[in-house]
Amino acid sequence: MKRVLVAAAVLALGGVSAVVAQQEVALSQQNLMKSQARNMYGVLNKMAKGDTPFDKAAADAALKALADDVAKIPTVFATNPKQDVPNASFGSSQKIWQNKADFDAKVPAVTKAIADAKFTDAASLKVVFDTISAKCDGCHDTYRVKLK
Ligand code: HEC
Repeated sequence: MKRVLVAAAVLALGGVSAVVAQQEVALSQQNLMKSQARNMYGVLNKMAKGDTPFDKAAADAALKALADDVAKIPTVFATNPKQDVPNASFGSSQKIWQNKADFDAKVPAVTKAIADAKFTDAASLKVVFDTISAKCDGCHDTYRVKLK
């Protein structure tokens, strides 16, 4: 009897740690997207709109950081967390893990748009921003779910 109880307790604990691990996976996926958003909206779009002064070196640095994040998408999304981050505005569609090869295939278009970025002022940076953003949405349209 004691042994059964211990086994049940171990199983229950295992279940709890699996849930915690899944939450961490979902959080790491959201953190990667938020990091991309910081460079896209926090730096590049502000500059493109003239909210902050145009600064080529800062824009180049943001694009480099963005490219580094984008390259991590296939591995950071290797595991299905099977749950959303609590109170998140967006979640992952289960379609990702039914069609992971297609999900991963959305990434090179973003990488290419970043690599092709040519700009000399806020107006040309706006074109670059819109081009990259459209490629981000090329994945979001299929694989991101609006939760609220
Ligand atoms: C290959 C697919 C894919 C690509 C490419 C992609 N995303 Fe996402 N993104 C997702 C998925 C799936 C979610 C929802 C789950 C999550 O937030 O982790 C998401 C969520 C987000 C969110 C919402 C995060 C939150 O607060 O919950 C932002 C912001 C975002 N992405 C920005 C970007 C930007 C900017 C790019 C392009 C530079 C980009 N994403 C490219 C798949 C992608």
